[in-house]
Amino acid sequence: MTPEPFYVTTPIYYVNARPHLGHAYTTLVADVLCRYQQMKQKETFLLTGTDEHGDKVVQAAKAENESPKDYVDKISGLFRDLWPKLNVRHHDFIRTTEPRHIAVVERVLQKIYDAGDIYFGEYEGLYCFGCERFYTEHELKDGKCPDHETEPEQIREHNYFFKMSRYQGWLIEHIQSHPDFIRPQRYRNEVLSFLKEPLEDLCISRPKTRLQWGITLPFDNNYVTYVWFDALLNYVSALGYPDGERFLKLWPHAQHIVAKDILKPHGIYWPTMLKAAGIPVYQHLNVHGYWNVDQSKMSKSLKNVIDPLALIQSYGLDAFRFFLMREMVFGLDAGFSEAALVARINSDLANDLGNLFSRTLAMAHKYFKGRVPEVPPEARDEMGFSIEKKAGDTISEFEAAMEAFAFHKALMAVWEFINQLNKYIDVTAPWMLAKDPSQHDLLAAVISNLLEGLYVISGLIYPIMPETAQTMQKHLGLKPDARFFDLDRLGPFNRIRSGTHLPRATALFPRIDTEKNKTQGSDKTHSVAALQPVKPEIDIETFRKLDLRVVTVLKAESIPKAKRLLALEVDMGEIRTVVSGIAQSYKPADLIGKQIVLAANLKPAKIMGVLSKGMMLAVADGEHAVALTVDKPVKPGTPVT
Ligand code: MSP
Repeated sequence: MTPEPFYVTTPIYYVNARPHLGHAYTTLVADVLCRYQQMKQKETFLLTGTDEHGDKVVQAAKAENESPKDYVDKISGLFRDLWPKLNVRHHDFIRTTEPRHIAVVERVLQKIYDAGDIYFGEYEGLYCFGCERFYTEHELKDGKCPDHETEPEQIREHNYFFKMSRYQGWLIEHIQSHPDFIRPQRYRNEVLSFLKEPLEDLCISRPKTRLQWGITLPFDNNYVTYVWFDALLNYVSALGYPDGERFLKLWPHAQHIVAKDILKPHGIYWPTMLKAAGIPVYQHLNVHGYWNVDQSKMSKSLKNVIDPLALIQSYGLDAFRFFLMREMVFGLDAGFSEAALVARINSDLANDLGNLFSRTLAMAHKYFKGRVPEVPPEARDEMGFSIEKKAGDTISEFEAAMEAFAFHKALMAVWEFINQLNKYIDVTAPWMLAKDPSQHDLLAAVISNLLEGLYVISGLIYPIMPETAQTMQKHLGLKPDARFFDLDRLGPFNRIRSGTHLPRATALFPRIDTEKNKTQGSDKTHSVAALQPVKPEIDIETFRKLDLRVVTVLKAESIPKAKRLLALEVDMGEIRTVVSGIAQSYKPADLIGKQIVLAANLKPAKIMGVLSKGMMLAVADGEHAVALTVDKPVKPGTPVT
């Protein structure tokens, strides 16, 4: 049986602004999903495009002294050119000014009109020109448009209305009987709660006396179509509605991806429009949160609009793709900062993945002349744990997370595996095995297991970091082609055939050398020489007995006659004193305000006359102590879980 196809859409973006990080994120999600579905042998189709009609666009063109046509061609081109640079493989790019789209809008309008669901009426209401829509009193914030913070104007005009109210009961029923029609849940609830109030009919026309830049209504030459009624239809016009082959094949599987700003048009207008037009509704509406910068919305006036191309140039494409997918929990807002991006590149990419990759290949070259060693089957799992089992578990976790749009969790599962492999190197100490010829089979097993593990990793990161995945596979002696990324093939081990020649590895992700990172000296981690035996295993219950808390340092003082000690007063919801042996690494003043981690339920102990209630956690880096801190400020007393 051939699997059903996967059809995914992004919003069609307004051409009144240049592409930014927010547009890039949604479109990348669509690309990641398509690549993932391709790994499951599905036929995929990604649609994106530009929304080019309406008042906003006319105003933006005016501001740049251009005709609407020239202006939309220019900005639409910026979007179209951006996607290949982000390695997004879209199958079609629709523009609402194209004849193929206009024809469908006319057809659907006529159909709904003929069915009696569009009527002519008078409307008086509060209109926001920025949003191009009427507002009801209770939608306004202090009498102002919540988006533009301007007072809407009272206007009165004759217009055409779509009988949306007629479909309210049907829509509620549909959402209730299809629990993941709108997901995640919070947005489904939002739509349902909106539908508790009576739904008003939707004004779907604009008189040409006010706006000409739009699609003329097929049944009245004096009006153009409201931009949302026009734009939403792109999802079917691009497929060749009503009888195009693509429409028939793909539409039943449609998945939309949007951010929360356009939940209402997609969750309410669109399904009711489809119902009225006799078109089956889409499968899923997937809604994500907003990227904020410095805790505020990106906006031209705040000058905090993030340009994806500039980031790619500085940090590389795959690092950018990784960061966006790892950092945002789909459905919730996320904060963007360049510092966070650099931190992720250095820790997750350069350190964890990059080091595992280069260490493994370096050892394969050093101990086996760059060839995949032969492994007697019984030697494979001898070193304490089965990498094959861990790889299988990782693939399952990855799949479950991807199906749930939990991209961050999918990557966390892969990184847990990467860290297990790094630890496997530390524990098995191949450089020690290499000294003893009787351990040759074990050494071969360790190196081969690591290569197999890297192969699984290369497959799993493919949807998010396609270039890196291919580079890794080349260095594993494979000729990457679509088949090597099949999810089914990743599972069984023994893909990296013994005897295969391994090209020497290049650095996958160069570390970003900021002054800050240099002082942290973190490039020492994972060095082969730094092997420390791992303590005997404990179970999770034992670990959970430890109560670790994030606390804020309020005061720090030296203790007389104790060169190495500082007495710290910390806030953890209550004030406590702890003594810590960090005086040779930190001046008291450097610690004030820092958030550190405290083992809070250690038995209190008197140290040099001071009662210490807890122990501060730190890392010994040679002579120096490095305090464990948190990535972002949290409430004092927050438990570490
Ligand atoms: N033209 C309409 C959509 C019509 S779809 C039939 C529109 N365009 S838009 O250019 O304003 O794009 C809005 C979309 O861009 C959001 O839904 C989201 O996909 C993306 N984003 C824009 N800013 C964003 C953030 N700050 N964060 C995340 N995504 C955001 O609305």
